[in-house]
Parts: sequence; C-alpha cells; structure tokens
Amino acid sequence: MTVSSAPGKVYLFGEHAVVYGEPAVPCAIERRARVTVERRDDDRVRVNADDLSLDGFTVAWGGEGDDAPELDVPTNLLEAAMGYIDGAVAQARDAADAPDAGLDITVESDIPLGAGLGSSAAVVVAGIDAATRELGAAIADEALAERAFQVEHEVQDGQASPADTFCSTMGGAVRVQGEDRRRIDDVGSLPFVVGYDGGAGDTGELVAGVRDLRDRHVFAADTVEAIGDLVREGETLLRGEDTPLDELGGLMNFNHGLLSALGVSARSLDSMVWAARESGAYGAKLTGAGGGGCIVALDDSEGSKTALDYTPGCEEAFRAELDTDGVRRES
Ligand code: MEV
Repeated sequence: MTVSSAPGKVYLFGEHAVVYGEPAVPCAIERRARVTVERRDDDRVRVNADDLSLDGFTVAWGGEGDDAPELDVPTNLLEAAMGYIDGAVAQARDAADAPDAGLDITVESDIPLGAGLGSSAAVVVAGIDAATRELGAAIADEALAERAFQVEHEVQDGQASPADTFCSTMGGAVRVQGEDRRRIDDVGSLPFVVGYDGGAGDTGELVAGVRDLRDRHVFAADTVEAIGDLVREGETLLRGEDTPLDELGGLMNFNHGLLSALGVSARSLDSMVWAARESGAYGAKLTGAGGGGCIVALDDSEGSKTALDYTPGCEEAFRAELDTDGVRRES
C-alpha cells in the first residue's frame, strides 16, 4: 500500500491571465488531498472516494461489463472527479510501464471540490505519485507536475494552465508563466483567510467565457494584460521578512476588480470579498476560476474570519497557512 498527499492552493494573483501566458502566483495551503493505492491481482480499477466534499462514492471500472454508476451527486462534479482519477491512473500506468495494472484507490480530501482551491490538481498529483510508486517506479517532482498537468489539460478540454498542478507538486508560493515555472523562495508570512460559499464554478466554461471576451474585445485582452502587469508588480513585494501586506492587499483588490470585469465573479464571492475588506483585511479577491466557490483575504487579525462567519452566503471561513511542502510521500 502506498500513500501520497498533495496540497490545495489559493491564487494570490493571476488566475485566468495565466492561461494566456501572463504570470501567476498561486500559493499552496495546508489543506490536502490524500490518495492511498494498492495493487490488485486483476486489471480493474476500484475507486473509493468517501470524502471529496461530495456525498462520497465508490466506483469500479475497467474489465468486463461496467455499468454507469448510479450516484446521488452532481453529475458534472462526479464526471470531472472520475476523469481526473482515470487520467491519473493512465499516467501512472504509463510512468511505471504497467499498462494493465489493476489498482484499488482511496481518495480523501479536505479541499472542497471545484471551489477554486485546486482540489482536482491535488487529487491528480497525489494519485499519480502514489500509483506510480505502488507500481514500483520512481517519479521526480518535475515529471509528476508535467504528468498531472496533462491530466488537467485533457479533462478541462485543453483550457488548463500548469499553474495548479505545479503549485500542488512543489508547495510554497510559486511563479508560473508558460514554460517558466519556479518556486519563490524566502516568502514572508502570508496570513490567508478563505471564505467558501459552498458552491463550485465550472472551470472549463469560465475559461472559455474569458477566452471569448478576449477574442472579441481589445479592452478585454487589455484587462488580461493588466492582470499580468499587476502580478509582475506583486511578486517583487513577496520576498523578504517584512512583506508589505497593505500593498499586496491593494493589488489583490485590483486583481478582483479586473476578474469581475472579465465576468468571472459572482454575487456570493463579491459579498465575501466586501465583508473581508470592511472588517480590516488588507485585501481580498476571488481565487481560482470563479463563478462560485472561494475568496481569499489577507488579514492578520481575526476581523475577516469573524465577519465571514456572519456573512449570508458564506458557508465556511477558515484561516489557511502557506504550506511549504508540496507532494508528500507518506508511505
Ligand atoms: C483555475 O484554478 C485557474 C485558471 O487560471 C485556469 C487554469 O489556470 O488552468 C482559471
């Protein structure tokens, strides 16, 4: 039996724009997906996902006579979850040169699905890592990040950037711009607070919406470029012990405004952003694809968390520490 875990993430800056070659700075947070893999004697794959912030499901496939599973969970999320796990299995079989290997897979995650915290990337990274090692092969972090990106890219119909999977593999704060992907060292304290509306956005649809706007309007393309400019300014503030949280927060606010202009915010996200700002946060923005899900605020006081706890539409608020570990080989 082999176990790996990988962290979720928040975007300090740059989601959506990163899809078009602008830089982004995602930061891993201490919320993890853990995947346990055990080799089977046959060629089947059995997945048990009791805790994906869905109602939990068990699915077996491969081999003869598979029926579509009957499950009481939103179909789009289930299909996506199965697509990610299926993709991770294919990558691990390929990496270990074991095309017919059967696997029992258990997925546990405390990252809400589809909510902008990188749940799918974390499941895919941990899944490929655990399955590859269970099949007797080693996998380096760079290769793991690349394989995980291939899975996200495929499941999200070619709309995904490598930012989520790279961040989940490497941990800490990272900078991603096209092929240039690296960890940012010596990042000071980043007091994140996350607000979650209990919902999820459809990443593929949201990315396609931004692409369409950008293709049709020069000002939308300029907005995407402006996000890139803001990220370049923001990343220089990150290094060193005395992180200027007020300046970083100001850029987060600006970033949220630009994402709103691109049509990817939502009423629940705006309410949470304003609740955090009005209760003392240095700044707040949506994180991830948007449409619903999570916001991230920067606040070293208790103000934002308390305000979010009482904000209608906010289902859960929690403090999230930067996780300097990426993929963790647990056993
Ligand atoms: C989704 O977590 C982040 C997006 O930028 C898409 C991507 O980078 O793959 C919206």
